[in-house]
Amino acid sequence: MAKTKKAYICSNCGNNYAKMMGKCFSCGEFNTITEEIIDHPKATMMNLNDVDGVVTPIIHVDAIELKRLKAPGIELNRVLGGGIVPGSVILLGGEPGIGKSTLLLQTALRMNKSVLYVSGEESLNQIKMRADRIGITNEECLLLNETCVENIVQRMKEVKPSFVIIDSIQTMFSKYLDSTPGTISQIRESSSHLIQFAKQNEVPIILVGHITKDGQLAGPKLLEHMVDTVLQFEGETQNSYRILRTLKNRFGSSLELGIYEMTSEGMREIDNPSEILINQRSENLSGVGVVASLEGNRSLLIETQALVSASVYGNPQRNTNGYDIKRLNMLLAVLEKRCGYKLSQQDVFVNIAGGLKINDPATDLGIAASIVSSFENLALGNKMVFAGEIGLSGEIRGVNRIDQRLKEAEKLGFKDFVMSDQLDLKKGEYTIKIHQVGTVNQFFSLLFG
Ligand code: TYD
Ligand code: MG
Repeated sequence: MAKTKKAYICSNCGNNYAKMMGKCFSCGEFNTITEEIIDHPKATMMNLNDVDGVVTPIIHVDAIELKRLKAPGIELNRVLGGGIVPGSVILLGGEPGIGKSTLLLQTALRMNKSVLYVSGEESLNQIKMRADRIGITNEECLLLNETCVENIVQRMKEVKPSFVIIDSIQTMFSKYLDSTPGTISQIRESSSHLIQFAKQNEVPIILVGHITKDGQLAGPKLLEHMVDTVLQFEGETQNSYRILRTLKNRFGSSLELGIYEMTSEGMREIDNPSEILINQRSENLSGVGVVASLEGNRSLLIETQALVSASVYGNPQRNTNGYDIKRLNMLLAVLEKRCGYKLSQQDVFVNIAGGLKINDPATDLGIAASIVSSFENLALGNKMVFAGEIGLSGEIRGVNRIDQRLKEAEKLGFKDFVMSDQLDLKKGEYTIKIHQVGTVNQFFSLLFG
């Protein structure tokens, strides 16, 4: 009997070792190397052309602008950079139960092109029940219950769909490998088989990918490198809002996000996210500040909340939700040193509304305002919007695309906008009252007198 071939593969980055190791030298992770059986190590070699590669000068390559397939709705097209590129492979990651299958089934049902939905997780009956719940029927939506990639590729060649959904990549396997579905070698093999099909036939494919407990895509780096676009579906299970975020996109910006609400009839797109991110009742509450933030190409007004209370322990707590904790520590140090607010003996909690995570530096000004508002117990009123970055010396810096931020604040009926004095604005262009400040001290005298 032939000896079975074994390999030791890192489940994080996919690196191969000849023997078992405690640490992966490629990605530096511990305890990620697992033993896998590989029977057919060269099952698929990624070769997108039938002939061997030919060297071509770039000027002789014709750039054919591929016509993108329009997905139903606005949000999915937005995160994909304007539609689905033919032949592209998209990975959609998310925790179990977040709504990946619902979103994709709904997309398949609303698409006016033939779509093949391959499920390795649910029976046809279960998918039909979900479709009934969403309440749409479409005869061009084809279902397939299969987990062997070779068979799937065969079916794809027969039915020639315009778009394929694979739910999920962790349930797929190649018959050339002996290891169980979900192992790194199976994920790598199944994906490369599907990617090869997508590129050769110009059929776009969406792969659903599970996320491990610590928020990583299972078989993460490996899959992320192989596909063209990586989308992540996020949200708190307690609330019904879901955020679809672009993590990587070879055909568009990787900063985009789309917002959905999970309803009893599937996912609903949120047209005006600022409205749900701002609480209309918080007018008289202290510790609430609204920031004009930019996520990708869209401006969002987001409510930031802070709670400052005297610490009962020797070591004050600092906790954030959706905001960088290091950035919070820096802001607290600036507020203490430059403005004299005694925050070092206070517990400070910061929260961004709607379960959003924001990286925009323009949020600093709003967070600082809500911290001091909570500390002094003085409400800011909810007619004021902030956008500015705070530097270590307490200076307030200008932020990019201020015009877009101002327009969004005006649209939602805000009366005052606070920003840096380093930015020049055309007089009379805006109806909103603009306050320009240079330092944190000027900022707080404007707010609290
Ligand atoms: P699902 O799409 O199966 O999640 P995933 O594929 O990411 O694991 O979503 C499952 C959850 O969605 C489940 O808790 C029920 C809920 N749901 C709704 O709230 N409304 C609906 O219309 C549907 C189909 C599901
Ligand atoms: Mg699912």
